[in-house]
Amino acid sequence: MNEPTRVLVTGHNGYLGSVIVPVLQAAGYEVVGLDMGYFRACTLGADNTSVPEITKDLRAIEPPDLQGFDAVIHLAALSNDPIGNLNADWTRQINAEGTVRLATMAKAAGIRRFLFSSSCIMYGMSKAAVVDETAPLAPQTEYARSKAVAEEALRALADDRFSPVYCRNGTVYGLSPRMRFDTVLNNFMGSAFTTGRVEVHSDGTPWRPVVHVQDVARYFKLMLEAPLQDIHNEAFNMGVESLNLQVREIAEIAVEAVPGAQLTLAPKPGADQRTYKADFSKFSRTFPDFEFQSTARKGAQELYEAFRSIALRFEDFTDKRFTRLRWLDHLLKAGMLDDQLRWRTAQPRVA
Ligand SMILES: NC(=O)c1ccc[n+]([C@@H]2O[C@H](COP(=O)([O-])OP(=O)(O)OC[C@H]3O[C@@H](n4cnc5c(N)ncnc54)[C@H](O)[C@@H]3O)[C@@H](O)[C@H]2O)c1
Repeated sequence: MNEPTRVLVTGHNGYLGSVIVPVLQAAGYEVVGLDMGYFRACTLGADNTSVPEITKDLRAIEPPDLQGFDAVIHLAALSNDPIGNLNADWTRQINAEGTVRLATMAKAAGIRRFLFSSSCIMYGMSKAAVVDETAPLAPQTEYARSKAVAEEALRALADDRFSPVYCRNGTVYGLSPRMRFDTVLNNFMGSAFTTGRVEVHSDGTPWRPVVHVQDVARYFKLMLEAPLQDIHNEAFNMGVESLNLQVREIAEIAVEAVPGAQLTLAPKPGADQRTYKADFSKFSRTFPDFEFQSTARKGAQELYEAFRSIALRFEDFTDKRFTRLRWLDHLLKAGMLDDQLRWRTAQPRVA
């Protein structure tokens, strides 16, 4: 086939990577993972995926690590605002400088297709009704800035030998072997299921594009297979209009999925009022045949069934393993990571 066959997936042990890798393997791709393994032990249910992997810090990769690949899917990152607030340098070094290091080596190794997992969060507190890919970026946090800086640096590397693509994701939900309960719909569902309540601390009006993790896996595969001239050096808001929801609607969907659950709007000063309503028309224009198979409602129902089948408890929902910041904090306090987020001890294997 013309498409790349041997793919390096960085961050393959994360929430998205643990879902994307088996989808690619099932489609016949030869996948190798590269991950620091921060969350390897943080499984909810079994992860039966078997994948050759390089356990390495993005900040320490070397040219031989990039040999023999046709494409890179770059997911590895410190993946949210709270971690960026804990230590801005880590987020800058890993998400921005680490991305440039990886991309520079990928380009030198002759890998043309480089899919960067970016975020709609860079649009910041946009007052514009809808933001398309040409909207000025207004990153409000270190995490959002790191994605904007990385995109800009990748753009400078783009030429006829190197085709970065900026996949600007919404907030992802849905079941993964490396579950996160620190993203909005997963969090609301976990709370509705284990406490019977969902509390919204903003006024509920902020917009959040949400997207199902299986659809994310499908669109990364799509991007691996797309003609390069359609995606070369292009940014895409990854989604469809119906995925733009206000936080209040997301909360309502969660309580409706869980019998008896109740919604409380309890705005607090300083609550998260980031808002971004994404224009997804470029994606649908470029990929008219791609269908998003899930909706927030369907995804909430599916999470409800999954939580029932594993009898999810409040202790699981609130366990540090499923909140990225708390788990890293735990590894640091336990002395397993040093002050540069490097392993000091053997990694914890099983939760
Ligand atoms: N989950 C979402 O809602 C969402 C939304 C928009 C964008 N994204 C982006 O998608 C990507 C994946 O997100 P996720 O939810 O799977 O995050 P995650 O935190 O679950 O996974 C990130 C992975 O990167 C690895 N990693 C972190 N620092 C590393 C380093 N220095 N060297 C090697 N590996 C390292 C971690 O060990 C982890 O396995 C991230 O780039 C994130 O910013 C995610």
